[in-house]
Amino acid sequence: MNQTESKERIDQLTDQLNHYNYLYYQESKSEVSDQEFDYLLKELEELETQHPDLKREDSPTQRVGGYITKSFNTVRHKYPMLSLGNTYSREELIDFDKRVAKGLNDDSYEYFCELKFDGVAISLTYENGILKRAVTRGDGQKGDDVTQNVKTIRSIPLKVSGDFPDVFEVRGEVFMPNDVFHQLNQERQEAGETLLANPRNTASGTLKMQDSSVVAKRKLDCYLYSLMGENLDIENHSEAISKLETLRFNVSPTYKKCSTIEDVFDYIDEWEQKRKTLPLETDGIVIKVNNTAQQQELGFTAKIPRWAIAYKYKAEGAQTVLKDITYQVGRTGAITPVAELEPVLLAGTTVKRASLHNANEIERLDIRIGDYVAVEKGGEIIPKITAVVKELRKDEAPQTEYISECPECGTELIRKEGEANHYCPNETSCPPQVRGRVEHFISRDAMDINHLGPNTIKGLFDKGLINDLADLYTLTYEQVCDLKFEIMDPATGETKTRSLKEKSATNLIESLQASKSMPFQNVLFGLGIRYVGKTVAEKLAMHFGSIDAILSASFEDIVAVHEIGERIASSVIDFFGKDANISIIDRLKEAGLQMEAEQPAAPIADKLKGKTFVVSGVFTLFDRDELKNLIKQNGGKVGSSISGNTDYLVAGDKMGPSKLEKAQKLGTNIITEQDFKTMIS
Ligand code: IVH
Repeated sequence: MNQTESKERIDQLTDQLNHYNYLYYQESKSEVSDQEFDYLLKELEELETQHPDLKREDSPTQRVGGYITKSFNTVRHKYPMLSLGNTYSREELIDFDKRVAKGLNDDSYEYFCELKFDGVAISLTYENGILKRAVTRGDGQKGDDVTQNVKTIRSIPLKVSGDFPDVFEVRGEVFMPNDVFHQLNQERQEAGETLLANPRNTASGTLKMQDSSVVAKRKLDCYLYSLMGENLDIENHSEAISKLETLRFNVSPTYKKCSTIEDVFDYIDEWEQKRKTLPLETDGIVIKVNNTAQQQELGFTAKIPRWAIAYKYKAEGAQTVLKDITYQVGRTGAITPVAELEPVLLAGTTVKRASLHNANEIERLDIRIGDYVAVEKGGEIIPKITAVVKELRKDEAPQTEYISECPECGTELIRKEGEANHYCPNETSCPPQVRGRVEHFISRDAMDINHLGPNTIKGLFDKGLINDLADLYTLTYEQVCDLKFEIMDPATGETKTRSLKEKSATNLIESLQASKSMPFQNVLFGLGIRYVGKTVAEKLAMHFGSIDAILSASFEDIVAVHEIGERIASSVIDFFGKDANISIIDRLKEAGLQMEAEQPAAPIADKLKGKTFVVSGVFTLFDRDELKNLIKQNGGKVGSSISGNTDYLVAGDKMGPSKLEKAQKLGTNIITEQDFKTMIS
């Protein structure tokens, strides 16, 4: 392909992929299969690597991230980002309406109502239709430049077409959809990591991550609700919203024009329940005077507009009695205190229990058995205890003493310095820890063993058939067929006895057999090493290539793996330092599980023999670990910093200038990833 042909193809692919993106993320339609999309994206990536000068500013390849921001620049907002006055009462809304009427000398006016999205405010600046900057609200005057992270949000156009001023600003709310949040928390739970509190904080934390490729995986979304700029030729907020829609910004279709405050009340009533069916958290509604000139006439107080107000829905709450505090033991041995409540109806469901998180929370609330407690169901899905009604406490109620022994196995609990949770250290025989590990091991992302659930696992455990992971592979058809186990009906709390039928027993044995060919990274993830989630397991498997290599790796070897920190490394060392774990691994090996990565880490060619490479920056053809592996597989060595011994520096995008300078000074060969590809091909 010559230069002109390449340009044509790059332009064509960029437009085509942006169009598919828009259809998929805003219209929920797709004209191509995921595979075809990825194929075209790959083609574009390759062309852009060959012709970096032809890469367009709205290239969809930016959506996958890869840009590392060391620290976010502070940017001053052109127009301050103000907050809104808010109220929980309808009377105060009537007062607001009266103030508006008075401020407009009783001229007629109308309102525009929107939902109040519970996310992170963002301001997007477009110049000549191209997204140039994305800045957080910050203190309202200045915010953080999070452009690279925001570019990974697929519903935000990187380029707009149509009729618009040279420079304009769009504002809205970045959020994490509820289903994405739950999925993320589920993965964290499986990896034994602490759970994230709510979608809002998670969205906010995600926007501030340094690696935009991690942000891309977090699947943030954004609703836009404001358009600003000069010469906009817009008279009403409703026109601004239509304009945003025409320019293909993601606008939530939940807005409504209201002529009177009574209509606003109807809108409030309409959405009080319906908002729970939306894909994101909302905590109220925003009422805005529709006409822009009238907005200007009403103006602002020091901090908030006089032309808008937020009405917040009350977090649904109830009061009930704390009957008891029980303690649950998780897969990792972490103890969670649970409030056992007198059942109470809250937001349509009966609440009987709420997490008390840890000993600090019990102390903070000073909660005691017999107390009346306030329970709320707010942004978080799990109800929480927000306060104790101290006035109703009986004098004799003794202070809650946290348990010191495991409620399941009696072992003395430990609490590591700086950690909020108590742990039961009896990993090998504390029943919920053993069962939890088995549940994790068989899960879809690990060994994917079907026909085993928590109840059957408990049945097998109670019968003494499984005491650790390796015991699973000793199970026979005869042992599991007709196995009795108990299930609890969550509605009535009654338990019923069930048994494993012939068909399920056959399937279970077959599924166990099939799991022996699951890749090594799944086995590694399945072992349930603390802090080793799916991605970390993949990285370790790819880097070390086999269980034996990981076993003999030192702490330093492990932290040297890209993106693996000290916390993970010491957890891995700790895990493999225990004889009980080693014996389980030996038995799993004997059973025939995959203990080596499919791509062997040992050299398979010696094209790079005797050469030392340093890899730096962000790459498009390979991921960094892949690149390092390829060097090793071809007999080369990977160094961490440039020295006189470095033969080649594989320089990626956004590489630090000091490394480049040093390499130039020492006369190191500086090559691109494309050059590297040629070297090994
Ligand atoms: S308009 C001058 N509309 O609420 C005020 N804000 O408390 C302009 N928010 O910082 C804000 N949904 O982050 C507006 N439909 C909506 C909103 C909304 C959520 C947030 C926004 C703002 C905060 C104000």
